Amino acid sequence: MASDRYIDFANTDFGRRLVAAVGLPAPARLERWQAGRLRPVEGSLLISPGPLADQVRSFAPRITDLLFSFGGEVPSDNPWIEGQGPKLKAVVFDASAFSRTEQLSQLRAFFQPILRSLDPCAHIVILGKAPDSLNDPLAASTQQALEGFTRSLAKELRNGATAQLVQVDEDAENQLEGTLRFFLSPKSAYISGQVVRLSPYAETVQDWSRPLAGRKALVTGAARGIGAAIAETLARDGAEVVLLDVPQAKYDLEALAARLGGQALVLDICAPDAAVQLSEHLPSGLDIVVHNAGITRDKTLANMTADLWDAVLNVNLNAPQVLTQALLDSGALHDNGRVILMASISGLAGNRGQTNYTASKAGLIGLARALAPVLKARGISINAVAPGFIETKMTADMPFALREAGRRLSSLGQGGLPQDVAEAVAWLSQPGSGAVSGQVLRVCGQSVIGA
Ligand SMILES: NC(=O)c1ccc[n+]([C@@H]2O[C@H](COP(=O)([O-])OP(=O)(O)OC[C@H]3O[C@@H](n4cnc5c(N)ncnc54)[C@H](O)[C@@H]3O)[C@@H](O)[C@H]2O)c1
Repeated sequence: MASDRYIDFANTDFGRRLVAAVGLPAPARLERWQAGRLRPVEGSLLISPGPLADQVRSFAPRITDLLFSFGGEVPSDNPWIEGQGPKLKAVVFDASAFSRTEQLSQLRAFFQPILRSLDPCAHIVILGKAPDSLNDPLAASTQQALEGFTRSLAKELRNGATAQLVQVDEDAENQLEGTLRFFLSPKSAYISGQVVRLSPYAETVQDWSRPLAGRKALVTGAARGIGAAIAETLARDGAEVVLLDVPQAKYDLEALAARLGGQALVLDICAPDAAVQLSEHLPSGLDIVVHNAGITRDKTLANMTADLWDAVLNVNLNAPQVLTQALLDSGALHDNGRVILMASISGLAGNRGQTNYTASKAGLIGLARALAPVLKARGISINAVAPGFIETKMTADMPFALREAGRRLSSLGQGGLPQDVAEAVAWLSQPGSGAVSGQVLRVCGQSVIGA
């Protein structure tokens, strides 16, 4: 993978001064989750008042040791006062009760004083309601306003900080802890400006140090790149992993499977008997399927051959469709299972020279949306993850100018790492993440592409 020398340069003393003087983008060195770490927030967490915030307070001591409330509005917490309070590593603002335009001014009043008091790589979560869950048009409009606010706030943040909007349905409050453990921690380092909705879901994580303990996960395209990082991260979180890749990748695949104490499955997902082979190798079924394998064969449509078209549509879209259906029909995918489809922001935005690839990735998003309601009764969730520019072999092979544009044209001003995508997949794989289904989670540093 190509290394991002500009980030290294921009974080030297001289580089910092030059970048500021010339007005170049100043990407921060993002903090990532290190294996063995337990606390999601290592620093101060500020929580606003509000009904959902009160729920957050009940588990906040498990997230951080340093809890503050704005101006001491909640007597039991330490007061955070502008100019006196400590730097903030994480912020939760509860706007879920907002139903009128006047209340939106509280956003300005709350966030303005804290913007200069954020630690590097601070994480902000705004809590709201899904507008389509509200009958009152003014309340729905007010809640929709939060989306525009959050996306703009995310664009104004500096120094690796991020902001998301989490819409919490009635009775979904029990899933706030798992969601905030993800979005307030470095696990979500490369996600910003996103909107995620939580629906009611009974199951929750039992052991936060191994949230996937007792779960069996299949990852396709797991020999290298994003797939390898996903297998590693799921194994770190306690899952038993089955790593699948093509025969040409056998050596790397088996080495990684051995290191992770998992199983290697050498298989082309487009083979006519792929579904049969899968079920033979998974006699006791599985809980998590990550359809990560994907290829590009770029040409403008004028020059696109049928071979290039078919290859991409077969690997990226047809195989996940066929294998998902086969796993469901045979009952191999257990109740409360998780299906994660690896899409791409270019599937949302379109991209010159990628009609085949973007059609396949948009098709995966369609599959997640269409199957989510069907699978709900069995507690199975299905979501698409849409990476932006991630530093892998796929992006190292891009022309220089396109690669630089891909990296810098985002709020975080840099490419993400395979681990960033893997952390999102691991979160969506958790028992409690059945609360999220039929959605697209972008892991793109708030790329301007397809935003
Ligand atoms: N790298 C990025 O910036 C980026 C951005 C958006 C989306 N994605 C998507 O993420 C996924 C992983 O990307 P990556 O960058 O790690 O790619 P990669 O090329 O490094 O790895 C893809 C893996 O899939 C395997 N594979 C390909 N065809 C297969 C088949 N028929 N059967 C089984 N395995 C097969 C390959 O052997 C390889 O190990 C892909 O779906 C890709 O489209 C990547």
